[in-house]
Amino acid sequence: MEARLSIFICFILLSFLLKPSLAIDTIAPNQNLTDTGETLVSAGGHFELGFFSPWNSNYRYIGIWFKNVPQQTVFWLANKNNPLTDSSGVLMITATGNVIILRNQSSNPVWFSNSSTSSNNPVLQLLDTGNLVVKDVSGENYIWQSFDHPCDTLIQGMKLGWNLQTGDGWYLSSWRSLQDPSTGDYTYKVDHQGLPELFVRKGTEILYRSGPWDGLRFGGSRRFEENAVFNPLFVSNAELIYYSFENLDKNTISRFVLNQSGVVEHLTWNDRRDEWAVIMIMQTVRCDEYALCGPNGFCDINRDSVCYCPFGFTPRVPQDWNALDWSEGCVARTSWNCSSATKFFKFTGLKLPDHSEILDSNSTMTRLECEQACLRNCSCVAYAKVEVSGCVMWFGSLIDIRQYSREEYGQDLYVRMDASEFESNKNGKRRAVIISISVVSGVLLLMTLTWCYLTRKRGLKKSPAQEMNNPHEFHPNPEEEDLDLPLFDWLTVASATNDFAFTNKIGEGGFGPVYRGKLKTGQEIAVKRLSKDSGQGLTEFKNEVIFIAKLQHRNLVRLLGCCIYGEERMLIYEYMPNRSLDRYIFDKTRGTSLNWQNRYDIINGIARGLLYLHRDSRLRIIHRDLKASNILLDGEMNPRISDFGLARTFGGDQSEANTSRIIGTYGYMSPEYAMEGHFSVKSDVFSFGVLVLEIVSGKRNRGFYHPDHDLNLLGHLVARKAPWVFSSCLRAHLCSTA
Ligand SMILES: *[C@@H]1O[C@H](CO)[C@@H](O)[C@H](O)[C@H]1NC(C)=O
Ligand SMILES: *[C@@H]1O[C@H](CO)[C@@H](O)[C@H](O)[C@H]1NC(C)=O
Ligand SMILES: *[C@@H]1O[C@H](CO)[C@@H](O)[C@H](O)[C@H]1NC(C)=O
Ligand SMILES: *[C@@H]1O[C@H](CO)[C@@H](O)[C@H](O)[C@H]1NC(C)=O
Ligand SMILES: *[C@@H]1O[C@H](CO)[C@@H](O)[C@H](O)[C@H]1NC(C)=O
Ligand SMILES: *[C@@H]1O[C@H](CO)[C@@H](O)[C@H](O)[C@H]1NC(C)=O
Ligand SMILES: *[C@@H]1O[C@H](CO)[C@@H](O)[C@H](O)[C@H]1NC(C)=O
Repeated sequence: MEARLSIFICFILLSFLLKPSLAIDTIAPNQNLTDTGETLVSAGGHFELGFFSPWNSNYRYIGIWFKNVPQQTVFWLANKNNPLTDSSGVLMITATGNVIILRNQSSNPVWFSNSSTSSNNPVLQLLDTGNLVVKDVSGENYIWQSFDHPCDTLIQGMKLGWNLQTGDGWYLSSWRSLQDPSTGDYTYKVDHQGLPELFVRKGTEILYRSGPWDGLRFGGSRRFEENAVFNPLFVSNAELIYYSFENLDKNTISRFVLNQSGVVEHLTWNDRRDEWAVIMIMQTVRCDEYALCGPNGFCDINRDSVCYCPFGFTPRVPQDWNALDWSEGCVARTSWNCSSATKFFKFTGLKLPDHSEILDSNSTMTRLECEQACLRNCSCVAYAKVEVSGCVMWFGSLIDIRQYSREEYGQDLYVRMDASEFESNKNGKRRAVIISISVVSGVLLLMTLTWCYLTRKRGLKKSPAQEMNNPHEFHPNPEEEDLDLPLFDWLTVASATNDFAFTNKIGEGGFGPVYRGKLKTGQEIAVKRLSKDSGQGLTEFKNEVIFIAKLQHRNLVRLLGCCIYGEERMLIYEYMPNRSLDRYIFDKTRGTSLNWQNRYDIINGIARGLLYLHRDSRLRIIHRDLKASNILLDGEMNPRISDFGLARTFGGDQSEANTSRIIGTYGYMSPEYAMEGHFSVKSDVFSFGVLVLEIVSGKRNRGFYHPDHDLNLLGHLVARKAPWVFSSCLRAHLCSTA
């Protein structure tokens, strides 16, 4: 009985196993594939080859597509530039191993593979990797393979780059249009003169540059890392230099494509929604446009005018620059020549400029040796010490530099400047520079300084109360009148932050950029420069500052003072050496320094701080922008909530409100706030919940990707019914804290 059953099971299994072999995946020289619906199907059933017509076209082509994607997606074509006009085509392999397409039995092939070597006993086979290969029946070496001739798509296992020994290259070229797969104008290619990087070109014009590969990422940008679909690979050695990728899950279908408008995107097939989902687009922001800011110009999407001249440089044509025509770029403020004394200024967080030259490819030079080498050649304008390629230099102008935000890392560049730029940095001359700038707007400065001085004399003690108009807001008690909030003058703040050098910029909050600085006393400060369009009046600002200064809690960041200069308002906080929580929890290496106890303590601290804002301070404060980057960490990794000062405050009896101006960060906003502008302490609790999920999981709520759906982290957990665990944890936790 049992024996018969097992034979039966074996039979069923066998019939399953045999089933795919019914579809053929090989053609021998005496066989052919005609345009009558015949196809080759790879052994595992993942790929299919046959004749097809693109959308809206009558021409016939041989192509390979994903067998399991209902919407036929061809990623490789044989005769893309030699279409057949009818269905008389035949695919064959010659006795020497050439793959040919014949039209209606004529002897002149429409297309042939032009294999460089020949074989005595060749077969054509569609492998389950999607690679179409010609190989000897007995051998394993490929005489020819489609992966060596990419079209507009890269799938897992294909390469984009160069075989340095043979000089063969692999690159993508776009289709001309949706109907016409013939070679279009756009190409996506690895360049390996200097640091290897990827370029999108239209003809010979460069449109986009990935930034150099530094051993970890392209251009120092994290954008490749923020996906859960594929792992980028880059290989660079004496023989091969290429980009490739592998899917993280073996069932994933994903592709990297240069589309007909010259945009590079990575897509993955979403079975549930029956469509291709875009995982990543290479060209997304203004700064991705090649050389947007001209020679020596820097590009930063966080600035109002995207382009700016870096420290030590000024616009070549200031009128054009002010009219937002940046093409002429920047020139050194103090020009130098071979006999000048020069030094290097270090810029951080950049996409390194184009046209690099590698000095020591076996990277044995130290940074200082690299610097010396640059100094020895007076055409050298900048250098960098890159992890994989060692010492790299630039000659001429610096082209296509982007300043990344703090979250994206970036690379360091040392730019050569006249030594006088550095003397002025120290004291005397620097002042002179600031003052000479001020002379231009001298009246304004004088007025402001006088104002600052007078205000300081009078103190901030009385004026706010006099100017107050909202009875719910701050009522100073007589005994609290002595609150002495230092008013910093602009020069102090400017020199502490090195004139708001972007190299001192440590972040970008919802209300403006944040700079790190050091006072003459040696105390480190963080300066929050509020955006000019914050729409806040002077009275409001002063009220809030005094009010924030009163909030004292060990889990809130302490305000040291403020500075008011013309339209500018700045808040000066104590500096938190460990910066913000997002640097830890979303970073694989730093994340390991936080164990469960640390994480628990951090969550606990945030909860205490929030409770204080919501309940224990005299006024009810709703933060409205609680997120990982607004949680700072002090020297002992205690969390300190920041950015709370500009949140909406309420009288003790008020607990909800509506607003038309939604501030905050998507991914942390409660649905009723994001959609209707309705906010309450519950909105903060929602954000806190998201934050807890992020601290526990180490993943961003936004930017989370799962191949099964397009939900964020929160949605993912809801879908997985995980929230029970979290909500009960949370409830227990909040109760114990409260
Ligand atoms: C293709 O093969 C079929 C039989 O397998 C044969 O009849 C036909 O002539 C072949 N076509 C060409 C062009 O060789
Ligand atoms: C192939 O060519 C022959 C004549 O050379 C013609 O009669 C026949 O119709 C053609 N077949 C197709 C499918 O075009
Ligand atoms: C075939 O390849 C050889 C060398 O590999 C080349 O010289 C020749 O131009 C190629 N022919 C065609 C038609 O591409
Ligand atoms: C190319 O990709 C971009 C970004 O996804 C898209 O906006 C554009 O419409 C695409 N172009 C074509 C022709 O599909
Ligand atoms: C180099 O610059 C210095 C000062 O700017 C100038 O005096 C000198 O003539 C310049 N030398 C050359 C060769 O241009
Ligand atoms: C590095 O390259 C230089 C020449 O480019 C060579 O002299 C030196 O021996 C190499 N060092 C190592 C460690 O390979
Ligand atoms: C400086 O380097 C450039 C580029 O490598 C080279 O062409 C030039 O000859 C060098 N000049 C000197 C003086 O070494």
